[in-house]
Amino acid sequence: MTVEANANGDTGTETGAGTGVPGPAGLPLLGSLLDLRSDSLGTYLRAQHQHGDLVRITAGPPGMRAELYCVFSPEGAQQVLASDAARFRKDNRFYQEVRESFGNGLLTSQDEDYLRQRRLVQPLFTRRRVDGYAEAIAAETRSVIEAWGDALDGVVDVSDEMAHLALRAVARILFGTDVEATADVVAECFPVITDYVLRRGYSPATIPRHWPTPGNRRAAAALDELYGVCDRIIAERRRGPTGTAAGAGSEAGAGSGSEAGAGAPGEDLLTLLAAAKSSDDGEFDTSELRDQVLIFLLAGHETTATSLCFALHLLSLHPEQQDRARAEVSRVLGDRTPEAADLERLPYLTQVLKEAMRLYPAAPVIGRKAVAATRIGEHTVPAGADVIIAPWVTHRHPAYWPDPDRFDPERFTPEAEAGRPRYAWFPFGGGPRACIGQHFSMLESVIALAMILRAYEFEAVDTEVPVGAGITLRTTGPARCRIRRADTPDTPDTP
Ligand code: HEM
Repeated sequence: MTVEANANGDTGTETGAGTGVPGPAGLPLLGSLLDLRSDSLGTYLRAQHQHGDLVRITAGPPGMRAELYCVFSPEGAQQVLASDAARFRKDNRFYQEVRESFGNGLLTSQDEDYLRQRRLVQPLFTRRRVDGYAEAIAAETRSVIEAWGDALDGVVDVSDEMAHLALRAVARILFGTDVEATADVVAECFPVITDYVLRRGYSPATIPRHWPTPGNRRAAAALDELYGVCDRIIAERRRGPTGTAAGAGSEAGAGSGSEAGAGAPGEDLLTLLAAAKSSDDGEFDTSELRDQVLIFLLAGHETTATSLCFALHLLSLHPEQQDRARAEVSRVLGDRTPEAADLERLPYLTQVLKEAMRLYPAAPVIGRKAVAATRIGEHTVPAGADVIIAPWVTHRHPAYWPDPDRFDPERFTPEAEAGRPRYAWFPFGGGPRACIGQHFSMLESVIALAMILRAYEFEAVDTEVPVGAGITLRTTGPARCRIRRADTPDTPDTP
């Protein structure tokens, strides 16, 4: 990496920074605004194909024009996220809007605030503690599978079903037995707020949030409702562990033991967050606690839902890989409920999941603001630039992924993985701001997929599932599959 700026990070005017970076011409007045609005992921992908690994895209009318510097190579992504992370901050419009709506939690905070939060939260995400959530995840998956027995026409939309499952799972680890009270409110309010954040985050200009427009009012009402339910539960936890313990112990499928985590008496994540403290960092006050909870709901439910949805959709299109995954599950688990230790015993299923996350990364685009002019590859990104890195594009980079659109779990054998740069595949981001929920998400996905595949066979009804970039990747049409009770497989689980 070469930095072409003084090290204090305030240089905005380095000669030549940003010049010569190739990119699409776009429309004379609007640049690529309409392309980005109608299909941002396709626009980024075409930009890489036509212009290479560092591309400048302009969008918006003169005077309000945004310039996006898009970094598509694994080395460039590594530089922005990891080796030069201090030069790329979460100060862009998108993160500002997320912060305004969902608060200053672990995903959105920066500097001292962030370091303090991470020190308080990190101990709650040790592998051992997260492994304790396995039982609660299995219980939620079981109830989804049981409900499918009633699907009259034998067709389920795996997009809706996995959204429901992932929301229940993250709400259960956060709130324990209060999952019932929260899941419905979140399912109702989140789409209103995320749409609002997106509209504002990607508009050339926005009106103040307090103006009484219908859009502002709708978003404010949804936020009020969401804050209300969080604050109520937080207040109950603050009153002491007894209320929590009484409720949690009576719930079927709740956790177990002191490292058990979700659902175990007094051990849901909210209770642990409320109790987290250190002599240097103090503890979270009520509004900080609410910010953390909202950020975990935001970061932790649609993301895992997307991975699960596309793993099932892709398997429904590829019967051979589906049979092989089911055979592995059957051989390893038999009839028993999966547990955390099974993750490493199900390598093929994990490969399937990783390949699904390659093709459909739940965070398809990650944004930053450059604080100093920085050389990336052959060009220099100027200070103040909006920088985009895009797992959606890098995960399809033809230099690392031959025949990139083909579904092929063999790309994730240990040998194949060892032959690629670290950031050719980075669905969980990387560097100091990498996803704290990575292990939880992998655990949830593998357990859920194993139980689902053991119970049902899938055949695609919708062979194409359209997607768009929301705050996370989202389906914009149904992902229906015909399901049939699975026979005990007689296919071998090795090729
Ligand atoms: C497939 C599932 C998931 C994917 C693809 C994913 C992806 C990501 C990515 C790319 C980032 C970095 C964002 C950036 O650098 O701007 C991130 C951060 C984060 N994720 Fe996840 N995530 C997933 C699941 C989860 C879950 C289940 C949770 C919580 C239980 C979670 C909580 C967080 C938090 C709190 C951060 C901020 C971490 C920090 O800055 O220290 N994520 N995630």
